[in-house]
Amino acid sequence: DSAERKNEAKNYNEVMSTFPRVKGLNGYDYYLYQGFFYAPFFLEGLMAVQECFNPQSTDIFVASCPKTGTTWLKALTFAIFTRSRLSGSTTSSLLAKMPHDCVPLLEYDLAQNPSNRDLAIPLVSTHVPYSCLPKSIISSSCKIIYICRDAKDAFVSLWYFLARLQMSKNVEPLPLEEAFELFCNGIANFGPYWDHVLGYWRASLEFPEKILFLTYEEMKKDTAAHAKKLAEFMGCSFTLEEEEGGEVQKIISMCSFEKLSNLEVNKNGKHRLDTPIAIQNSFYFRKGEIGDWANHLTPEMGARLDDIMERKLKGSGLKL
Ligand code: A3P
Repeated sequence: DSAERKNEAKNYNEVMSTFPRVKGLNGYDYYLYQGFFYAPFFLEGLMAVQECFNPQSTDIFVASCPKTGTTWLKALTFAIFTRSRLSGSTTSSLLAKMPHDCVPLLEYDLAQNPSNRDLAIPLVSTHVPYSCLPKSIISSSCKIIYICRDAKDAFVSLWYFLARLQMSKNVEPLPLEEAFELFCNGIANFGPYWDHVLGYWRASLEFPEKILFLTYEEMKKDTAAHAKKLAEFMGCSFTLEEEEGGEVQKIISMCSFEKLSNLEVNKNGKHRLDTPIAIQNSFYFRKGEIGDWANHLTPEMGARLDDIMERKLKGSGLKL
């Protein structure tokens, strides 16, 4: 099996080497594939799952562009789902494991090995754009929950994340201005950002019962309403007794930035240990605020990205 996987990886690498490439934001090139940019290890995984992945009919995909609230959404969906279907001890694994270790990533964890998951928990995460998802997912009845965020905050969050990652390897990060220029040109892992958002937005309009479209900002403003919406969408609504017993609030508190970022595992642990992409969990928790971009970008940079987003989203009915 392992020899077979090595051969497949080699083949994907050969195919990838024929794709257009651009300088990425963190030291290596991104490849252009089916209209989006990818870091090599994610592209390899994407090609593998496009070819081989088969979802369970009950699977629920948690989709996002990086740095838009993935960790939070994974924690919430995991906590909501496990509270009703499984014993409390599973839910509390959020206290011992980083959310990324609770919900596997399609284009990495499952691409490496489809059995890298607990089949009793039908949650799978992905950063893959809607149009590039494996056909087996698109044609299935699987539900998808998508989260996105103001592009300026997403960019600032991304820059800090990559800078921390680079510095942890003693590599000088790309200056913010240079990274911003690339981002405005659509260059980011899984970007262009606007095309990622638009793909899921349009799909959510076409299949509203299948795709739930959320924003980080809305979820911050009324987390309780969103927790209930998530539960309903996942088919595990809170009962009246649960609501009256404070279950919604309990889950929100457990998944809050304050709670998660202060857990020992998230302060000092790493996830995907023993893989080339092992990362400090703390890098996924920075500020967790809306509008922090203004502390890092000039008003002119902000206006430029707003203008790009407005033009790209024009006519779609979506305002971010
Ligand atoms: P900031 O860098 O703006 O603080 P992702 O999970 O998609 O990688 O996104 C990371 C962003 O979500 C970071 O934003 C991070 O601080 C924020 N975040 C992480 N956990 C969160 C939580 N439980 N609640 C709210 N925001 C959270």
